[in-house]
Amino acid sequence: MDTKSLSFFVVGLLTGILATAVGISWMAGRQTTNDQPVQILKLAHTLDPKHPVHQAMLYMADRLREKSGGGVELQIFPSGQLGSETECIELLQQGSLAMTKTSTAPLESFIPDLAIFGVPYVVRSEEHFWTVIASDLGQELLAAGEPKGIRGLCYYDAGARSFYTVSKPVLAPTDLQGLKIRVQQSKTAMDMVEALGGSPTPITFGELYTALQSSMVDGAENNAPSFHSSRHYEVCKHYSLDEHTRVPDMLLVSESVWRSLAPSVQQWLRESADESAAYQRQLWKEETARVLAELEQAGVTIYRPDQSAFNAQVNAMHESFAGTRLGELITRVSEM
Ligand code: GCU
Repeated sequence: MDTKSLSFFVVGLLTGILATAVGISWMAGRQTTNDQPVQILKLAHTLDPKHPVHQAMLYMADRLREKSGGGVELQIFPSGQLGSETECIELLQQGSLAMTKTSTAPLESFIPDLAIFGVPYVVRSEEHFWTVIASDLGQELLAAGEPKGIRGLCYYDAGARSFYTVSKPVLAPTDLQGLKIRVQQSKTAMDMVEALGGSPTPITFGELYTALQSSMVDGAENNAPSFHSSRHYEVCKHYSLDEHTRVPDMLLVSESVWRSLAPSVQQWLRESADESAAYQRQLWKEETARVLAELEQAGVTIYRPDQSAFNAQVNAMHESFAGTRLGELITRVSEM
């Protein structure tokens, strides 16, 4: 190693040690074309690498590498390697993880307004969902975590959530009676299952396969790509498309890490995230159609129950929010 490389190595190592504490590191011994050490941002999430959201993050990493001339790298840890969604959000707040991608459901404990996505049948359709996301409210919700140390960069499509069960299909709300249904770490998700007649059991996504297999729960609910890539369909052979909620995924960056980034890096990251969101939206459509066909080939029966029966069942839940902030948000979304 010549003197110049050695000094880069030492600087890289020292800054790496210091910056690990704030979720960023520099790759020692590796320089960009203009002799700058490569900056590494760690991104953790809980989905499988086959999932379209992970594919979108790989796309974002490529875009960021290109825009930064190889100066900024995303290091992606999938499959819950660094913890559950709630744990990743906490790491982000502490600044010891730069980025994460979570569902807005567990984010609700940090940003209460995000509960709006968990209230069943408020978002009426795919088209309505995108109207909400593009609205001022969609943008406000993305920015709402900044005072809590969590900056939203973009939404990813997570389709509609529907019930899947081990031993009998859910064709009407009455079929949920007596069933233990796994829900995300979210009060609204608990209330939703209760309103529909089931018994909610919060379990992390990473622990769900075993919980289904060991009959700790009788079923769960999710979109088709997550049902498929988690292999929950190996245990649950009934998938009922009641489409009760459209809970998006959100890409987040630690506010303290964000503030330590150069304005040019912030700009590249913003652009790369937006580009990955557009890419993911297209990929989502293709993947959802593809995995529904694959699920059927794997022996899963897909049902299309009358959604109005489920919808009617949650009226009382909607009414219970009258006069609250969530009630105000329900009205705002319903009027879009
Ligand atoms: C969706 C979402 C994940 C989340 C999962 C869950 O798949 O994309 O981020 O972990 O739901 O039900 O926990």
